[in-house]
Amino acid sequence: MKIFTEKTQIQKFIRQIKDQDLSLGFVPTMGALHQGHLSLVDEAFIKNDMVVVSIFVNPTQFDNKEDLKKYPRNLEADSVLLEGYGDKLIVYAPTVSDIYEGHAIAEHFSFDGLEFEMEGKFRTGHFDGVGTVVKRLFEIVTPDNAYFGKKDFQQLAIIKKLVEKHQIPVNIIGCDIFRETNGLAMSSRNARLKEDYKQAAPFIYKTLKTAKEKFGTKSAHKVTEWVENEFANHKLLTLEYFIIADAETLKSVKRKHKNKSYRAFIAVYADDIRLIDNIALN
Ligand code: PAF
Repeated sequence: MKIFTEKTQIQKFIRQIKDQDLSLGFVPTMGALHQGHLSLVDEAFIKNDMVVVSIFVNPTQFDNKEDLKKYPRNLEADSVLLEGYGDKLIVYAPTVSDIYEGHAIAEHFSFDGLEFEMEGKFRTGHFDGVGTVVKRLFEIVTPDNAYFGKKDFQQLAIIKKLVEKHQIPVNIIGCDIFRETNGLAMSSRNARLKEDYKQAAPFIYKTLKTAKEKFGTKSAHKVTEWVENEFANHKLLTLEYFIIADAETLKSVKRKHKNKSYRAFIAVYADDIRLIDNIALN
């Protein structure tokens, strides 16, 4: 495994890979790696000769300074997890100045309205920050294929839009949500959950699964009411939003149509830790 911290070095190495006509997969991360990330790396190795994993806690996508400060960082532990992949895996762990060259400021993007739904309503500027860093990382790494988890389904949709609008030559591949055995979607934030919140958090996915069942016979409005009520009665978890949306436009659904795909999206606070999840409904 090779680790680069400077873009000029990794770019030189990637040129050699490309000269040998080897295909390159890319898994962008903010570190604090877990099984969910490793499942993306495994997926990337199915289709690519070499895989780059970037580890970079991107300051411009945090609307909350405290969240940025508390975001777990442990390059040593991350490297141990990745070592097993051997010399076909490349880690890019840049500093803020290597990515932003002194100006850690997000570009402004239009993602055709996708950015105004759900997370966009609650995390001001978040998707400008994500778009900025992912675009830069794509320019540096120049991957053939890039892998993103569906836990951040809205982010995945926005990255597909970014690539289409800016004509970036990379295939974007969405990968299934990786869950703990108790159903909780894997997230770097889970490590910060105190014991009682850790015990409570699987309630999120359990509720999503029941919502899916109910959506078979009930309206989006009725299912939303039911979910809101479940959380209103919960002692530890606070619902920020539950939305049933069109899986393509991400706009919330008023009336169901036969040939459309729908998904339920949820954001919940467990103490001061924000957890998100989603599920395909049909
Ligand atoms: O999903 C994440 O971990 C981040 O948003 C990403 C895509 C690595 C950009 O910083």
